[in-house]
Amino acid sequence: MGDCAAFVASTSVGKGFSSARVLCQRHGGANSKLQLARKVVRTCNALHVSMIEQRETGRASDATIEAVQQLYNTYPFPPEPLVEGAPPGYNWRWHYPTAYAFCAKGRLPATTQIRILDAGCGTGCGTEYLVHLNPQAEVVAFDLSPGALTIAQERLARSVKDSADRVRFHCKSIFDLDDGEIDGQFHIINCVGVIHHTPDPLKALQMLADKLAPGGILHIFVYAEAGRWEIRRMQAAIALLQNATGTLGDYREGVALGRALFAALPDENRLKRREKERWAQDNRADATFADMYVHPLEHDFDVPSVMALAQKSGLRFLGWSNPRNFDVGHLLGNDEKLMQRAMQLSDTDRWRLVELLDPERVTHFEFFLAKDPFPDRDLTETEVLDGIPEWSECAFGTPSQLILDRDYLPVSLSPEQILFAQQVVADAASTAALTKRKRTLEMMESTGCPLDQIRKLIHAGLVHIRAP
Ligand SMILES: C[S@@+](CC[C@H](N)C(=O)[O-])C[C@H]1O[C@@H](n2cnc3c(N)ncnc32)[C@H](O)[C@@H]1O
Repeated sequence: MGDCAAFVASTSVGKGFSSARVLCQRHGGANSKLQLARKVVRTCNALHVSMIEQRETGRASDATIEAVQQLYNTYPFPPEPLVEGAPPGYNWRWHYPTAYAFCAKGRLPATTQIRILDAGCGTGCGTEYLVHLNPQAEVVAFDLSPGALTIAQERLARSVKDSADRVRFHCKSIFDLDDGEIDGQFHIINCVGVIHHTPDPLKALQMLADKLAPGGILHIFVYAEAGRWEIRRMQAAIALLQNATGTLGDYREGVALGRALFAALPDENRLKRREKERWAQDNRADATFADMYVHPLEHDFDVPSVMALAQKSGLRFLGWSNPRNFDVGHLLGNDEKLMQRAMQLSDTDRWRLVELLDPERVTHFEFFLAKDPFPDRDLTETEVLDGIPEWSECAFGTPSQLILDRDYLPVSLSPEQILFAQQVVADAASTAALTKRKRTLEMMESTGCPLDQIRKLIHAGLVHIRAP
């Protein structure tokens, strides 16, 4: 990384912002186009050299990091509008008790007074949810791009009254996480769409693992090669054309060129069809188009390599956060014999089978990792019966015959389950004192809801169990 970018990437947000302003002023000068062109060429040359160097040495490259930073300064991501007040909707992966219970087979965490790290927060959309959904948490967010962070800070200022007290932003690279600027460890780390854009995803993940507290969980999202076949070809096509004219690294030109290519291709062209059917809606914004098609650095994974990544991180793989995506029943459910054979495979092989048979479905991997000690067994009967049942904050609607689960999917409840769930909700409303709350056994007896049906509610993520 060059001196200036190194300064931007390793200092606090405030300093990062001022150095970014200095850079902008420079580019606004009389020779700005020439300077920009020179800088782009320098970056591209450095990028190619560094990629070769990295292949040969396995070392993370500063020049590639600088190129990524330039992309996100040009096109901060995600380009969601800034609005006043709380964000709409709900993503349970950002609600710590629900995410924890999902990972810990229905158990609620001991506390909600936690520390959250949003790694590579971009323009702060995820950060905003993390702050709103976890009112007792201390949230820390960092990103490589000062441009993205300016927007993130503005987003949080508009959305949260006391945002300066609730969230701290840092401008830094994931590879500098051990420099002491962000102190301590975190109960949950959110890292969506980041490490696959670094020169060394495993090293990046290991840096995050060091910041995870024992018993903590890490939610991560990386790209999958299976569903990005067309994207990779279009990326390569744009790069080929830009390289020939020396404009590789000029991201605005790359976006214009990419859009022109799509417009020119015949309608039946595979790349064009995929863009139209799957991505075009999101890609109306140039920032999203750029993130997809003119990115200087992208690593894609498949099931075996994502498992290897998880295993080498030193953390424990807990499962996909979108497990339905890997349900082989979608594909083979109408052939009993094939289903039986598929179900005899190990989890990893069965997921691989889904990826092989249905590549379009697998465009990314999102999963949870944990640092031990972390509970890995199902709740025992005693844990369920002696525990305090709680209705999930991410279930939609009051307990009734048909409600929506945390993924907004409909679940139908039996009459006994409805009675049980209604009592769970009523009990929580009647007192905040945990010592006065009813245990599962008591509610089971008063509602006549059998244990196996209560377990189904837990399994569906509608009821969680708090240790007394
Ligand atoms: C696709 S965006 C994702 C933003 C955000 N996590 C989200 O999901 O909305 C990727 C972000 O990762 C950041 N990033 C890339 N490499 C990084 C690095 N080495 N250290 C810190 N952040 C990095 C980029 O600046 C960019 O804002």
